[in-house]
Amino acid sequence: MRDRPASVEGIPTPALVIDAAAMERNIRRMADFFATGGCRLRPHVKAHKTPEIARRQLAAGSCTGLTCATVSEAEAVAGLCGDILIANEVVGPGKCERVAALARRAEVTIAVDSEAGLERRSDAARRAGVTVGALVDLNVGQTRCGVAPGDDALALARRVDAAPAVVLRGVMGYEGHVVSLPDRAEREGRTRLAMDGLVRTARLLTAGGLRCDVVSGGGTGTYDISGRIEGVTEIQAGSYVLMDSDYGRLGLPFEDAFWVLGTVVSRPDASRCVVDSGHKSTTKDHGLPLVKDLEGATVVALNDEHATITLPPASRVQVGDRVYLRPSHTDPTINLHDVFYVLDGERVIDVWPIAARGYPEHRIAASG
Ligand SMILES: Cc1ncc(COP(=O)(O)O)c(C=O)c1O
Repeated sequence: MRDRPASVEGIPTPALVIDAAAMERNIRRMADFFATGGCRLRPHVKAHKTPEIARRQLAAGSCTGLTCATVSEAEAVAGLCGDILIANEVVGPGKCERVAALARRAEVTIAVDSEAGLERRSDAARRAGVTVGALVDLNVGQTRCGVAPGDDALALARRVDAAPAVVLRGVMGYEGHVVSLPDRAEREGRTRLAMDGLVRTARLLTAGGLRCDVVSGGGTGTYDISGRIEGVTEIQAGSYVLMDSDYGRLGLPFEDAFWVLGTVVSRPDASRCVVDSGHKSTTKDHGLPLVKDLEGATVVALNDEHATITLPPASRVQVGDRVYLRPSHTDPTINLHDVFYVLDGERVIDVWPIAARGYPEHRIAASG
């Protein structure tokens, strides 16, 4: 086990670093927004997969609980909060059984969009002697999982309501197809359209005599649109806490709070340097990362272990210098790392394990 470095200088690269103060400001701004109005925040753990960050989000207030995308995330944060939503379909070996085990420690609710998924969940909960909550998952336009709003959703809700050991809690619909639209008016209009299907379906359930306490959706790009629509009860935003350059284009009131730290390993000519943070440490699915605090520097290529950066003619960058890259996509970048180095300026004040990164269920004891 290595000792914790005292400052940025001692951090082995590539590494993830957090500006603790900027992150706290993001957490505070979002909590303040949801302190008024009828809707609450349910921060999404998938963005950071880090229990210490989830703990701080909950401590800031305005939260109904936490959102997770996987059973492993829920297991990592179950000790922090009594109300966990897995905003995803849960199917696969052992997963419903793990959810049933979690339901002994916290109220757990899961998205459902099929009778087959519902049956597995119901059986596992019944065998474990627990009840598990369910939200009917609606396709509000992203065309990923989810049933159509309206009668299809109502029919599935009736099946959920009748299933043993499952409690119908409401509906969810994630407007992922519009959260990062750069034009505010277009984002707002299309979000309203998407949320209309969700809220209308919630009313249909209630009119049909079914329970629908939870109407869940929303993300970082739509938190202040969906979060002010009558009938939406909670917002599942995640990226706001650390931000990325994709969301950075939207002019949201959140600051960049994390970077991939790298070291210049080569300075092949006057116009170029090469840093050791390639795409094994920062993803490029939303575009190449940006360079922080280096005027005129641009990442032009990411290979496995190398980021190639072009530099302006007068650049004095040298081999051994530190370079901060601003990732274009928070969640999958963080998923590549084991820990966050937490910074106050140049000082390392803590190291937080990214406990739910990767696929923790495979961390089983190796034989031999
Ligand atoms: C189901 C669901 N809800 C909410 C979010 C919100 O995330 P973000 O804050 O990154 O927009 C996501 C992101 O992918 C998601 O998949």
